[in-house]
Amino acid sequence: MITKNTIDKVFEQSRVEEVVGDFVQLKKAGSNYKALSPFSNEKTPSFVVSPVKQIWKDFSSGKGGNSVAFLMEHEHFTYPEAIKYLARKYNIEIEETQLNNEDKEKASERESLYIVSEFAKEFFKKTLNDSQEGRSIGLSYFQERGFSTQTIENFDLGFSPKEINYFSEVALKKGYDKIFLDKTGLSIFHENKTIDRFRGRVIFPIKSMSGRVLGFGARILDNKIKTAKYLNSPESLIYNKSKVLYGIYYAKQEIAKLDNCYIVEGYTDVIQLHQKGIKNVVSSSGTSLTNDQITLIRRLTSNITMLYDSDKAGINATLRGIDMILSAGMNVSICTFPEGQDPDSYSQERSLEEIEDFLKDNSKDFIQFKASFLSSQTVNNPILKAKTINEIVTSISTIPDRIKQELYVKHCSKIMDVSEDVLFNSLAQQNKSEGSYFSRRKVAKVHKTPKNIKVDVLFELEKKIIEILLLYGSKKEKFEEVILKKDKNGEVLMEPTTVESLVYEKIFLDLQQDEVDFANESFKSLYKTIINELQKNGKLVLDIFLNDLDAELSNQVTSILMNEDRYQLHDWFSKDIVVKGKKKVISQLVSETILSLRTYLINEKVKELQEKTQKNPEDNNNEILEEITDYYKLKSLLSKKLNRVL
Ligand code: CTP
Ligand code: MN
Repeated sequence: MITKNTIDKVFEQSRVEEVVGDFVQLKKAGSNYKALSPFSNEKTPSFVVSPVKQIWKDFSSGKGGNSVAFLMEHEHFTYPEAIKYLARKYNIEIEETQLNNEDKEKASERESLYIVSEFAKEFFKKTLNDSQEGRSIGLSYFQERGFSTQTIENFDLGFSPKEINYFSEVALKKGYDKIFLDKTGLSIFHENKTIDRFRGRVIFPIKSMSGRVLGFGARILDNKIKTAKYLNSPESLIYNKSKVLYGIYYAKQEIAKLDNCYIVEGYTDVIQLHQKGIKNVVSSSGTSLTNDQITLIRRLTSNITMLYDSDKAGINATLRGIDMILSAGMNVSICTFPEGQDPDSYSQERSLEEIEDFLKDNSKDFIQFKASFLSSQTVNNPILKAKTINEIVTSISTIPDRIKQELYVKHCSKIMDVSEDVLFNSLAQQNKSEGSYFSRRKVAKVHKTPKNIKVDVLFELEKKIIEILLLYGSKKEKFEEVILKKDKNGEVLMEPTTVESLVYEKIFLDLQQDEVDFANESFKSLYKTIINELQKNGKLVLDIFLNDLDAELSNQVTSILMNEDRYQLHDWFSKDIVVKGKKKVISQLVSETILSLRTYLINEKVKELQEKTQKNPEDNNNEILEEITDYYKLKSLLSKKLNRVL
């Protein structure tokens, strides 16, 4: 784990405008910066960065947060990746805790493997572009395949010299350790000999989501030679072929933006499509699609389109992939290419528009895809038809979402010309089978009836309190207090007074008095953090607690904080809009919110008590009934007060 100390340093030194500015063209707008949203295609800027608050907000997608949140959204980094990125950017040394010796060794071994891989990438690249052999053999090969100079540069393509250990010798001479050359598989040490694994091949570096070189794919140039067409790096601490997707680093942004990911079979398919302008494309590179790879994509989109060859291997790979994608709760389309063509060969002689049209016209959902096997000759064969239908239903049964299942059943019924009832029956049978038990459980959880409206009221009220604390917590305001008293007859009375108090103190004391606890766990912890912070410092140091929040909450806080800036943004476009500040009514807002919360809680309490009496009608419920009456009185007083405030 990265130490708190390192994280604090990272937060101290990072400037959100600098971090975002590395990826987005920012323009000064008042005290803020604005830009076109990097998360959607828009024509007028709705992306704001506030150097004062050290946060950003994208009003077109609703996303927002601090520097780390930006890197996680934009670069799809994990939290530690984002911290490490910032540490590198700001030259902060990363301290890690809780590493035992074995872990430390692993971490440093991993780092060494990265370093030697990076070196190899640069070496192969240089060889391709600068050496006589590389240019005449490697570069001309890529050019023949139609790759432009820019594409070759962009994908860091390379060439490994033919000489048996040219690369290894250079690496060893430069001081790279034999151990790491061996573990990355770049060199093979056999008895007394040293051999370059990729000698005489063109090189495709395989990168992680964040752009680090993990391993290599290497292709022979001469198709006639009887040896594996592609060689890949062996598994290592940094390269795990079932967990990487070739091209993900280049595709991630477009996948998220276009909300769809194309999966192709090969390296060259990725590169060719990318060059043509279709950039949301990755390859599982020869392995059949794995769950880890699907998870990787799911960080970016829930829609996958498989572009596979129409040969037997391709079809089989597609069929396997379909059910895996469906059972991950994602949507899948399939586009097959004409016999003997792959995305690379198909695209070479075609324009972007032609390719896009082809993809559009030939993409099928999985039902259409499976149904299409039922060619005209077999359509009259009931046994084959039944088999196809069963296969479709099997796929449908892997979908975790029941509603989606139902939609697909209807769809299938139309396409296959078979009644929905029959399909539902068959589905029910398949659902009963062991394999789908987990899915059904998951569905039950996801589709629990939406929380009733009352819970949402509570949520809104709690959120409002957080909002008030964030925006006005440290302000001093005059409040109309009510002191509740019981008179001689036990009637509850209100006595109005005016007191001056800090907003957060007023809220804190009022809620404490009523023993109100937040129902929403995140709001609860947020409330505690804010109150603590205000008690300690008298003001909020935004970055500190933004940093401690989980992504969703930090996003919510950011939205609240940026609301003001949104007005400012609108102002930018039509200068005559004057937004009335909320400030004048702060004390009213506070009182109103607390009163509403109280009223709500009283209602709940009354309901609870009533249920109690209904459950045990024989019991003597006098005490409870009395309590209810008291609450009713309190409620009517509060509502009067509320009306007045409103
Ligand atoms: N592959 C591999 N090892 C092999 C053959 C293939 O790892 N011996 C992987 C490669 O990632 C390759 C993908 O499987 O890109 C698809 O293989 P194939 O369709 O045979 O190759 P293409 O990508 O079409 O390669 P090319 O166009 O260069 O012939
Ligand atoms: Mn090919």
